[in-house]
Formats: sequence, C-alpha cells, structure tokens
Amino acid sequence: MGKIIIFDTTLRDGEQSPGFSMNIEEKIIVAKQLARLNVDVIEAGFPIASEGDFEAVKEIAKNVKGPTIAGLSRVIVKDIDRAWEALKHAKKARIHTFVATSDIHLKHQLKKGREEVLDDAVKAVRYAKRYTKDVEFSAMDAVRSDIDYLCQVIEAVIDAGATTVNIPDTVGYAIPDEFGGMIKTIRENVFNINKAIISVHCHNDLGLAVSNSISAVQNGARQIECTINGIGERAGNASLEEVVMALKVRRDFLPYATGVKTKEIHKTSRLLSTITGISVQPNKAIVGENAFAHESGIHQDGVLKERTTYEIMTPESIGLKKSKIVLGKHSGRHAFSKRLEDLGIKLNKEELDKAFLRFKRLADMKKEIFDEDLEVIVEDEIAKTEEVFKLDYLQATTGNQTIPTATVRLMKGNQIIQDASIGDGPVDAAYKAIERITGIQGKLLSYSIRAVTGGKDAIGEVVVKVNFNGDMVTGKGASTDVIEASAKAYLNAVNKVAGKKIRRGQGVKGSRGQDFSSLKPSNP
Ligand code: KIV
Ligand code: ZN
Repeated sequence: MGKIIIFDTTLRDGEQSPGFSMNIEEKIIVAKQLARLNVDVIEAGFPIASEGDFEAVKEIAKNVKGPTIAGLSRVIVKDIDRAWEALKHAKKARIHTFVATSDIHLKHQLKKGREEVLDDAVKAVRYAKRYTKDVEFSAMDAVRSDIDYLCQVIEAVIDAGATTVNIPDTVGYAIPDEFGGMIKTIRENVFNINKAIISVHCHNDLGLAVSNSISAVQNGARQIECTINGIGERAGNASLEEVVMALKVRRDFLPYATGVKTKEIHKTSRLLSTITGISVQPNKAIVGENAFAHESGIHQDGVLKERTTYEIMTPESIGLKKSKIVLGKHSGRHAFSKRLEDLGIKLNKEELDKAFLRFKRLADMKKEIFDEDLEVIVEDEIAKTEEVFKLDYLQATTGNQTIPTATVRLMKGNQIIQDASIGDGPVDAAYKAIERITGIQGKLLSYSIRAVTGGKDAIGEVVVKVNFNGDMVTGKGASTDVIEASAKAYLNAVNKVAGKKIRRGQGVKGSRGQDFSSLKPSNP
C-alpha cells in the first residue's frame, strides 16, 4: 500500500491567513498536538518573515519531537541561512524553498525571465543542500505555469538535490482531472522524477483542494500539503482531516495509507479553534458540529437501527465519543423514546404517546430540544396525571388544648397503607403522615391557598412548592376542606417524585420497608 506523507502547513500557510495568527507559545502547543496526530512534516513557519516566525520555528525545532520540522524560504541566500538558523536544532529538518514559475508571476511580480528563475531555483536548492539532505522545492503557481517549462525546472532542481518537488495550485484554479493529468505528465516527462517525492499543495478557491489532492495521489503524488480545519490563504488549503479520512474511509478505492492517528483529529481541530477563536462551520466535513449529528426522523430511525445506514465512518474514528441524535421538529418517535431510555425514563405506550405529542408541539416552537426539556415534558405531561398514591381517607384533629394529629390512608393500586402523625398543625401532621407512608421526605418551601369559587362552600385550591433532596416540585390540590386540599397538594408533589423514581428504576420504599416501585396496581 502506497504511503502518503502528510505535510502539515497549519503553522505557516494557515497561520498567515487573516485572523489565524498565533503567538510562539500557541504555536508550540499546536505543533505538539500535530506531533501527537503523527503528521510526517510540520511546516513551522517562514523564518525570514519576522522575528516571531523565526523564534517559533526555532522553539518548535528544539521542542517538538517526532515529525520533520520544515521552514520556508524564498530562493534567496539570506532566507535559506535564516531558515537553517532556526531549523538546525531539529532532529529532522527540512528547508523548503520556493519560487513562482508561471508567466503571470514572472512578468508581473518577479519581473524576471524563465532562464533566470530556473537558475535561482537550482542555486537555492544547491545552497540549501549544504545544510541538510532534506530539501523541498516548490514551483509556486505551478498549475498556471507552462508545463514544459515546469518540467524543466523540476528536473533541474532534482538534479541539484531536491528530495521533494512540490506542485502547488497556489490560486485554487485546477479541476481534479486536469490536476491529476498534470502530475501524470510530470511523472512521465521528468526523467529523474524517481529521485524525488512528488508533493501537492492545493488551495481551495473553487472548493476543490481536497479533490485535487486525491486526484494527484491517484496519479503519483506521495506527499499532500494540508492544514487543520483547512485554514490558509484566502479560501484555505486542503483540509488535513478531509484528506486523511477520505484515504482511510475509501481505502477500497484508494490503496494508500497515512500515518495519521485519526483519533486525534477532533481534538486537534478543537485545539486550533480554541487558540485562534475561530470555529469551523457546523456542516464542515469530519470536524463540524453536525458532522455526526442526525436530526431528520428517517435518518435517526436508520442510525438507531443500524449506524451504517447513514454514517460512512464512526465518530470514534476521529476521537469523538458518539454520534449525536439532535431532537428537533424533524425527529421521530424512535429517536424520542431512545433518548428517554438513555435518560433512564421508562414510559408505557400511553404515556409515551402523550409525551411525544407534547414534544412535537414544543419542537415546533423551539429549535433544539435538550434533555432538560424532555424531563419537564415527562414530569408535566405524565406525572401530573399519574397518581402513584391516592388519598383515600384523612382525619385531622386540632384545637387549642389538643396536639394536632392526622391519620392518613393512601391507596397504591389496590394496596391500602395507613399511618398517623402529630405535627405543628393539622396540615403539618398530614404532611408528616404522608411522608411516613411513602418514605419520600420533602421540605415545604412555600404554601398558598385561594378560593376558586365563591360562597361559604368555596373550593379552596392549595399550591405547594417542595424541595425533595434538591428537586423542586410544585403540587396542587383542591377541596372544599382546606386540610384535605392541603394534603392533596402535598401528595400531588410526592406523586411526581415517586413517578420519576419509579420510571428511572430508583425504587420507592415506604418507611416500613414496603416496596412501592411498581407503577402497576399491587395486590392487597
Ligand atoms: O500556495 C503556495 O504556492 C505556497 C507555496 C509557498 C508552497 O504556499
Ligand atoms: Zn499555499
């Protein structure tokens, strides 16, 4: 299987684009992560460009072990000297020297003829060879260069000692077939081409950088220059994660391998975003927030049944824990019930129907439904109608000479449970009796009562707010008897907690050890 050398230029081509500049410390952090990602070459900077670039290349050369460290230089002696000065500390160092070869650049920017540029290129490579065996030459704007002239330059620099010859699509102009054909032509027409590695460096102006790089590989290129998150001049460079995963996922079609530890991809992408403050777009291939997220009902159903229905690679392969099922208005029942299951919430069919209807209504108003929303839906929609315990009998005595006492009888299905308690008043006594029966302790935070109908026989509605071990629950109860309304309100809150515990399989035990964990009516 052909080995593809991954040359990462995040810290050079990537860093030189607007908004992506990094200080030395940040560059070292990124370089160390690139080493963990196991790229073959890190282009650490352009040492002649600034003092900061020089220092960064030097520090990376000194401190980052594993990959070859490359530094960029024009075909100018002082650039090459400066590059070496920074690189010399590296265990494996590469001087990367470049000059444009297209007539557009020669005429308008360099104002030099073809012969002169060829001569500069050869001299620069020879000069760089005095420092290191590993010299890369780039023919800038190769894609728009005259192909015969380009071949001539490549042959000459290989003769001069270049070990890698890079064919950049500097302005992102190439079309995959055309670019692949160009690499083939170079391979077939440069007589000493076997003495060097063919590299490609594609920009993404037409969104074709990755496709062009892959096409080049199919035609003989063995090094791809790329960047994390595809950052780089203008529309960026070929994205490392896309190139690497395309080669990995389509190994059946592309029999090439890289040494990249793909499980480090997600972490590297996030690190770069954190350092630069620029996130990738959500739909970015491989590393975007949505790259492993499914929202449509049909897709969610498929993925839950069999992941490969809608996923061509696993999230784990790039270092993510799992795919994301986003609950929203397009989601179906399957995804909804699966999420409830993951949250430990068990519902019967009828409850699930109700909760799903409520979920759909909410999803129409809200973009994404979070786990907290689901809990509220379940608590509100299900628990309010569900009476785990039913008040069957209540007797309370009170007076200025009597200790307030309440006797409470509850029913759980057919089971009858009774207890009594004293309290600070008849309501408090009733609440304590309910706690004794159900084993569910709460702290009353607020209590309010209002008359919902007029007259002496007005119905009183009591609303209580209770803290059950950090879980704040509201309960409501109504009756013409205020003590009964109070007991019903408290029991309503207790029922919500009991229902939740039962659905989560946490169990409900009465204070005398009775097991109330089944939602089904129990036998007397
Ligand atoms: O895009 C380009 O041509 C470059 C070269 C310096 C390799 O970045
Ligand atoms: Zn470039």
